[in-house]
Formats: sequence, structure tokens, C-alpha cells
Amino acid sequence: MNYDNLKISNQQAEDILFKLFQIKGKATALPGELDFNFRIKVDNAEGYILKISRPNENENYLDFQQQLLQFVADHGRNLMAPKVISDTNGNAISKITDDFGKERHVRLLSWVSGRVWSGVNPQLDDLRFSLGKQCGLLTQALQGFDHAEANRPFDWDVAQSLWTKDHVDLFKDEEKAIVEYFQNLFENSQDTYSKLRNAVVHNDANDNNIIASSDLIHPKVEAVIDYGDAVYTQIINDLAVACAYAIMDHNDPLEAALPIVQGYHSTFELQEDELAHLYNAIAMRLVISVTKSAINKIAEPDNSYLLISEKPAWEVLEKWRNISSDFAHFSFRDACGYEAHPKSKSFKDWAEKQSFELNHLFPTIDKNDVHHVDLSVSSKWIGHQEEFNDLDLFQFKIDRLQKKNSNKIIAGGYLEPRALYTSDAYDKIGNSGRESRTIHLGVDFWLPSGTPVHALFDGEVVIAVNDAGDKEYGGLVILKHQADDFEFYTLYGHLSVESATKNRVGDTIKKDEKIGGLGASQENGNWVPHLHFQIMLSLLDYKNDFPGVAYYNQIDVWKNICPNPNVLFRSDALQKTVGTSNAELINYRKQHLGKSLSLQYKEPIKMVRGAGQYLMDQYGRKYLDTVNNVAHVGHENYDVVKAGQEQMALINTNSRYLHDNINALAEELIETLPPELSVLHFVNSGSEANELAIRMVKAATGERDIIASEVGYHGNSNMCIDISSYKFDGKGGSGAPEHTHIFPLPDAFRGKYRGDDSAEKYAEEVQKQIDVVHKKGRGVGAFIIEPIISCGGQIELPKGFLAKAYASVRAAGGLCVSDEVQTGCGRMGKTFWGFQLHDVVPDIVTIGKPLGNGHPVAAVACTPEVADKFANGMEYFNTFGGNPVSCAIGAEVIRTVKREKLQENALKVGTFLKDEFRRLAQEFPIIGDVRGQGLFLGIELVDADMNPLAAQTDYLADRMKDHGILMSTDGPDHNVLKIKPPIIFTKDNAEELLFYLRKILAEDIMQF
Ligand SMILES: Cc1ncc(COP(=O)(O)O)c(C=O)c1O
Repeated sequence: MNYDNLKISNQQAEDILFKLFQIKGKATALPGELDFNFRIKVDNAEGYILKISRPNENENYLDFQQQLLQFVADHGRNLMAPKVISDTNGNAISKITDDFGKERHVRLLSWVSGRVWSGVNPQLDDLRFSLGKQCGLLTQALQGFDHAEANRPFDWDVAQSLWTKDHVDLFKDEEKAIVEYFQNLFENSQDTYSKLRNAVVHNDANDNNIIASSDLIHPKVEAVIDYGDAVYTQIINDLAVACAYAIMDHNDPLEAALPIVQGYHSTFELQEDELAHLYNAIAMRLVISVTKSAINKIAEPDNSYLLISEKPAWEVLEKWRNISSDFAHFSFRDACGYEAHPKSKSFKDWAEKQSFELNHLFPTIDKNDVHHVDLSVSSKWIGHQEEFNDLDLFQFKIDRLQKKNSNKIIAGGYLEPRALYTSDAYDKIGNSGRESRTIHLGVDFWLPSGTPVHALFDGEVVIAVNDAGDKEYGGLVILKHQADDFEFYTLYGHLSVESATKNRVGDTIKKDEKIGGLGASQENGNWVPHLHFQIMLSLLDYKNDFPGVAYYNQIDVWKNICPNPNVLFRSDALQKTVGTSNAELINYRKQHLGKSLSLQYKEPIKMVRGAGQYLMDQYGRKYLDTVNNVAHVGHENYDVVKAGQEQMALINTNSRYLHDNINALAEELIETLPPELSVLHFVNSGSEANELAIRMVKAATGERDIIASEVGYHGNSNMCIDISSYKFDGKGGSGAPEHTHIFPLPDAFRGKYRGDDSAEKYAEEVQKQIDVVHKKGRGVGAFIIEPIISCGGQIELPKGFLAKAYASVRAAGGLCVSDEVQTGCGRMGKTFWGFQLHDVVPDIVTIGKPLGNGHPVAAVACTPEVADKFANGMEYFNTFGGNPVSCAIGAEVIRTVKREKLQENALKVGTFLKDEFRRLAQEFPIIGDVRGQGLFLGIELVDADMNPLAAQTDYLADRMKDHGILMSTDGPDHNVLKIKPPIIFTKDNAEELLFYLRKILAEDIMQF
């Protein structure tokens, strides 16, 4: 039928509404497949939805709809659902004749307000859980309802979906293969599927039928509307439909489906046999969708709604095809609180009756006891990445451990989170950023290559391959075993290729028979020789491989599929010891560490390993770090680590003895500084550096009045707090002390002065403070400022300001101190030090954070005049300042910056980022300002009236953390995102950061 002859315009809808219901309203067409639906807006009320049928609509069907809505109204106590509005003649269903003489049925329902699902961004787990919950509630409410029309033939009913088989020729070959795969799976499961529970269910929780609350941060699904597709069918199909739509546009659709399943199960208990069919049912709903689209494209080429979900449906079908149906089934079971693997308990019961010794597995090794080796992310034994990736070193350490424990087998690893898997094959981009496979599913036995491995039970070879490649298994054998009423598998990885592949699939291996021998590194995936031994209750869809390491977020499912091999050996040493939980750490901190120590994030993270621009938590999750400028040349930079370790092994003492390192660090720094700043003192922190600087000021000028910026921060000691407006003007502070003089934050974006002349104006403010000091009859000691005010929100000093301010301060006899604790050591890109951006030379420069790359070392550089005046006879002694270890580390950091051209990198990547942030600012009006230099950048979030948006800034940092990216916020109004990563940050890292920023900036709460 010609679509134009069916269409109803908004004006026609309004006329029909008035004629039948005497309601004046504004109609807007809504998407819909069969009915023509209109949103009706009226004054001072929620409004309505007007549904005008196609011609010749079946009246029984409409009656079914009305009864269904009435049943929901009567039985769904907590359900929000549309109500039937009768026309002026009291009819629940009215009739009209359209312009083409066709009879059309008209119904009016109350409008359920809220946002439709498709308009909610982001759609997170708790939202999907609430979707499942609402769908389950509706199914619960519909229990006991029936109607003849509910049993109609219906294309959109998953139970009837095999009609799609007649249309597979509409698809291209690859698409056809996917569709046929699912059709066959579905067809072959009919004997059990057809026995599942049936009921009348909603059957159409698609994007436009789901109503969510208006909360922007944690919206919940409040109603599912449009009952037009309700049908009597297998209950599981209803959940399948909800999943099929809500998992679209996710990298990992299975993960996205789980909260929906969990939510459904929380309000309508799903049965185990139903969950076995959910994977197929979801697939078949998608198959119906793509088949309908293909057919309708031909029939009604103008109806764009029919095409809307075609592309994402294909995408999700392709991804679904790559998910093992068994794995999905086990995940659904786990989500509902059933044992993930149905035979898990049978296996445990069976295994408890068995008893094995380790020398059944290794009969040539006359040992049964285990010495546990810790290879977890936080293991000190494995050391630095450079060390655990060094095969010779790893072998040496294993040999040494073996020597010390000569009567034991070195082993361990079940469920151990590991950082060893550094190849890309272990990473993927999940629904919230990067995920790494880190959780080890088997036990490793560290024995020499050639060690024979024997079978513990009779078995049949199902896989015997060379799983070649770096960090793969090399020689791999998997055996299938029959126990009471179930099968299970054992896996032997890292065998020699020859000994593994001499086995043939189908061969039987008897208990105690040799399976193969351990492979040497070159044929076992480049590992130190060991056996990876794993038990599996299912082979999933694997044909030549099986994962030995799993993603942390799937661990509950995997550990059920792959039970602990130690159930066979019952070795205490093999049993994983449970570490301290985050909750316990937090509790202890609360009791025994000062309350004013804060923790980042509502759910704090425990970081146990650093690697370059990444930090890793105890589960091996990698976070891209844009916060920790302290790790200047990369977290745990190996050269720096080695410099410290090596020196620590020799001597660490105070600077009263001669040592090369203190001179070497001084030399490295002096090379970067202007000739005027030629004298150094070494200390242990930025605070100590500023503390010493102020002592020098007092000694050199005889004055103690200091001029500093509003919102400046210079450290945590008494004197530093006294000159830090960020602290004394903030929470718990009591304002500026007598000798501190604060001038307004020189912020040209939202500060006191914003125009072209702001440098002049702010310099005048400094002069005003000089005048204040003079009025008090005192002289100026110093003016201290950062070249980019970090806590102030990455405030770049207006061009020309610093030179003018320095001139005024010097004219008043004061000294100029540049606090380079954050900005120094190459981060600025264009220059090595921040003050160099302003063509000035301070009298004193304080250096901190980056200098030790995490080790506490800091420095004060000054002119010889200042140094001489400071040396007034009182010895300056600092127990740790300038010690050989700290200086070895500091010197290596500066050498690394120079050797690896990291200042140039900061300029290149920083410029790229700043340009891209500016581009983002054009896309997202919430970004008011982008500023900073090199890899020391800030993004300020404001509304259209320049009001600061602290909640949104916090939200952005929190959501970035959800995606594995660490960001920090600051500024007097807490509305500035700070970007100050290790300066090894690459363009790829920058692109990853931009990708997720763009994603989060598009979320509802960020729209201004
Ligand atoms: C600009 C500035 N100066 C000094 C300090 C104090 O350094 P530390 O914490 O190493 O004592 C900080 C610390 O954040 C700082 O940002």
C-alpha cells in the first residue's frame, strides 16, 4: 500500500482529536510501525497519545489492547502505564473515515511523561537494571491475563521467528551466514524451548517505548509503554526483546545485557531452563528485526522508521555471533545468582572424592609439596616490567627460588591478577574503556623444560596444537574426561611443540600415561619453562585454544567454568591467600590515619603498580594517568628506578661527606637554568624548598612581608601555609596572616580584570600590596608566584605581568621567587622552566615534584648573592637533603628529560591537545576556556553566564575514571579540569583522552 495514502498529518490528528474527544491539543507525530501515533500536548496537563490505526485494523486486536491496559491498571500496583480515555460518546475505541474513504480506529491514552530511553545519555548499568526490573514487574502484573488475540500469528514473536528462514536470500553472504547460524541454533533447540513457561508479555521494550525518569545522573526506567506488540509467548522472549535493543551500540553487548537480566530476575524470577535459551532468543529478535527491515525496505522505501534500528541491529548481531552461546548462558545464570556453570556443584562433589598427589602429574619429580610464588600485579618478587620481561633474569630468579626450596615444586597462580600479559592480545576496549585480561585461570608449575607431564585421569585428546606466538601457549593439549554424569576438561599449556602435537585429536590417554614434556622458551610462547594446568567444565566454542587468563569483570563466571585445580591436590601452599580488602584499608585509615588526609573518588582505588603513563590497581586494571605530574618521566621509569636501587645498595648518607651525586645533580640543573641562578640547596619536598626560600628571603632582605597570589599554594609547612591563600582562605583557614599580602588571582578569563590590559591591572594590584607593606612601615621581603597557577585552576599569567610585577617588587627591595614545583623540568614545552615563558629571571627558584619522579627530592636554586647572604654563619643542615640516593634519582630524571627529548614531547603533544581541546570547546559550549602550556593544561567549565560548573567538572572526572582515565579538578570554584600527565604522554594517549572526553561531554548533564 502507498505509504502516502496511510499517513496522517499533525493537523489531521489535531482535528480528529477535537472531533472525537473535544480536546484541543498540539499534535506531533511519533515513530511507530503499525499505528500512527501522536503526542498530544495540552495546557496544564500531562497530555495524551493519540493512536490512529491503519485501515481495516482488526477490532479484536484493539479490544485485546484495551483489556490488556485495564488488566495492567488493575494488577500492576506500582506500575506506571497509559490509561484509556473514552471519546465523547463513551467509546474506548472510536472510528473515523480517512480522506481515502477508509475506516480507521482511534484511541486516546493518557501520556506517560518522562524521557524516552533513546534520549538518555549515558545508559549505564543501573539504568539497564531498572529496565529489566520494570519489564519483570510488567510480566508479573500480566500473570493470569489472556485474550484470543494474544495468540495471533505475529512476526515479532520470537517463538514464531522461523518465518525469517524464507527470506535469507535478501542478505549478502556474510549476513546470511550469521542469520542462518542463529536460525539453526534456534530450530535445533525447539524441543526444550517449546516447553518453557508462556504468558502474555509486553514484547516490545524498544528504545522508544521505555520511559526513564528525568534525573540526569542516575535516571531509572519508570515505565514501559506501547503494548501493541503484546503476545502470548515464552516469557523469556520478553526479556530477550528488552535486551536486544538496550545492548545495541555497546562494544560488549553481553556485558550490557547482564544488568537487564539481573533486574528482570529481581522482580520476576527466571528459571534456569529459561536462561539457557536467552542468548538464542535475543539473537532471533535481532534476526526478525533485520529481516523485517530488508523486506520493508522493498515494500515501503519511504518509511524511515523501519530502517532506524537496522544498522545497530546488524552490528550487535555480528558481535553476538562472536560470543559463545555457552558463555552467555553461564553469564546469565551468574547474573541471576545461579551457579554460573550448571555442573559446577557436580564437579565439586566429584572432586572432593578424588585424591591426587602432584607427582601423579609429574612422576619424574619426586616432590609433592609446593612453594608458592606470587606473580600478582603487586608482587615485589616479579619486580619491574623490564625485569619480568627479561627471560634470563626470570629464569635466574626461579632457579634461585628452587635452590632455596629444593624439596618443593614452585607453583601458584589460580585467580591471581597479573600484570605479566603485556601483549596487545590481552587487551580490548570494553563498554567503559580499556580492559585487560589479567586473572589467571590455572595453576603454573615452574619446572625445567623437558619435564614429563602425565595424565591424572583417563581422557580423550580434544585439542593438540602448537599455539604459536609471543605470550601464547606454544605446545597445548586439552583432554576431555568423563565423570559421573558430566564431562570436564584439563588443559596443559607450554609443552614442547613436538610432544604436544604428537597427540592426535580423538586419541585416548590413560591415567598416568605421559601427555608431553615441558617446552623451552622458544617454543612455549617465550616464557620461562612451566606447565599451565587448568580445569574446565566446558570448552565453550574454542577449537584450538582456550583462555588461560580472563577479564576481571567476568571473573565470577570464569572461576565457575574453570574450578580451582587445587580441589584435586589440596595443597595449603597452592591456596591463594586473601589480601587486605579495600574496605579494610579504608577502615584502618579512618581509625589510625589523620582525618584530614583525603581519598580520591567515592570508591577509592588501590594502586599497586605504575608503568609509564599508566597506573594499575590490584586487579591489573590500567588507568591512563593525566594527573600525576610527579611521575614526570613515567611511572617507575626503569632508568630512574635503577639509579635509585643501585645507589641504595651502595651508600646513602648525608651531604657532609663528599659524593659525586650531589654535584652531578647540581650540574644537571645548572645546565638548564640561567647563569644568574648558579647556587643550589637540596631538600626533600616542595614545601621544604619554599620554606627554605622564605628563610633565604628573610636572611637576604631582613624583611618578612611576602606578596603572593590569591588561591596560590606553596606547601604544607607553617610558613608555606602562611603564604598559601588556597589554604588560609579555604576551608578551615583563618585568612591572611599579618605579613602575607594577597593580590587578586591574575585570571584573565573570569578574574577581576579580563581585558587586554589585565597584565597591567594585575601588576598594579601587586604594587598596591607593596604600598600596603610600606604603609605599615615595613619593607617587602619577596613576591612568590607560580608561572602557571596550578591550584588556581591552571591560570596562565597574563603576558607581561610577571616582568612588571618583578620590576615593582625589586624597586621596593624585595626578591622574586618562582615556585616551579609543578611547572618545572621541561613540562612547559616551549621552555624548561615556567618563568622563562615570561622573559624574567627570578632571584630564587623552588623545584619539587617532578625532580624525583616520585622519590622525595627537591631543590632551591638562587643567585650567589642570595646564597651568600643566607650563609650568615648558621649552618644549614638537612639530614636527607642532597643524599646520594635522592641525587642519583634526581640527576637521572633530568638526564632522561634531556636524553629522551621530553620537553619537546611536552610541546608537541601539549600543543596537539590544546588545539583539540579548543575544537572540543566549539562542539561543547560548557567548555568556557582552554589554557596552559605544554603538558600543563586546564579546561574550565562554565554556563552561558560564566557561572562555574563544579558538579559537572566533578562528574566529568568521575566518568573519565569509569573509563580508566584519571583526571583531577581544581580552581577556586572547583570547575577546572587539570591535565598534567607524565611528559612521556604520547599522541595516542592524547587521542584516547580526547575520545572519552568527547563521549562524556555529550552526556545529558554536560549540556548547557
Ligand atoms: C606550587 C606548589 N608548591 C609547593 C608545593 C608543595 O610541595 P610538597 O607537597 O612536595 O611539599 C606544591 C604541592 O602541591 C605545589 O603545588
